[in-house]
Amino acid sequence: MDARALKIEAAKVALSYVEDGMRLGIGTGSTAEEFLNLLAEKVDGGFHVKGVPTSEKTAHLCVQLGIPLYSLDEMPELDLTIDGTDEVDGDLRLIKGGGGALLREKIVACASSKMIVIADESKQVETLGAFPLPVEAMPFGLEATRMAIAKAAEKLGLSGEIALRQDRDGPFETDGGHYILDASFGRIPDAEALSESLNAIPGVVEHGLFLNIASAAIIAGSSGVRTLTA
Ligand code: 5RP
Repeated sequence: MDARALKIEAAKVALSYVEDGMRLGIGTGSTAEEFLNLLAEKVDGGFHVKGVPTSEKTAHLCVQLGIPLYSLDEMPELDLTIDGTDEVDGDLRLIKGGGGALLREKIVACASSKMIVIADESKQVETLGAFPLPVEAMPFGLEATRMAIAKAAEKLGLSGEIALRQDRDGPFETDGGHYILDASFGRIPDAEALSESLNAIPGVVEHGLFLNIASAAIIAGSSGVRTLTA
């Protein structure tokens, strides 16, 4: 099975957790899109959900697919969020933000009673960090923020390139108008300590470590679909 087929398998299992009438956080990325396609078929058949998108891109897709949308302000408490991930470890720690939507994704996931992550098996890791950690930062004082991140990481024995994410026309801009610094620290043995240090830097808006947020991960591999729970 190719990666897309695996994403669809994971999305199918995730769909079985969605109940009629649910207030649903809807993730961003190619795996979340497979979930959306399946959800749209159900909605087309008369199933009801109230969706809160985690990015403008997802919102656009929901409109195209006929999924009823609400803002998080209209519906600040959600039953469930389904989203993809860039990495997941055995304790459901995540690295997210490869698609640049980590801030809204974290806000929406934290407003949900449950967050279920869907992924193909390439995303499952023993220790987080092979995927560069996205850090959403204020454009103001970006270099100072980058240096503060490097210093904080160094105290934890981490080092590596911290690169400003680029788009075709310049720095990649998030839906919130911020920039993304992708930190290639390699293996992150103490994600909690790194998260705490990053949270203390004023120019850091949010980072892609999702700790104690996901309640389950549905992982599709060549030998079938497994669900990891907290
Ligand atoms: C977007 C994300 C995505 O969920 C993550 O990048 C996974 O994307 P994909 O399913 O395309 O591999 O965090 O900010």
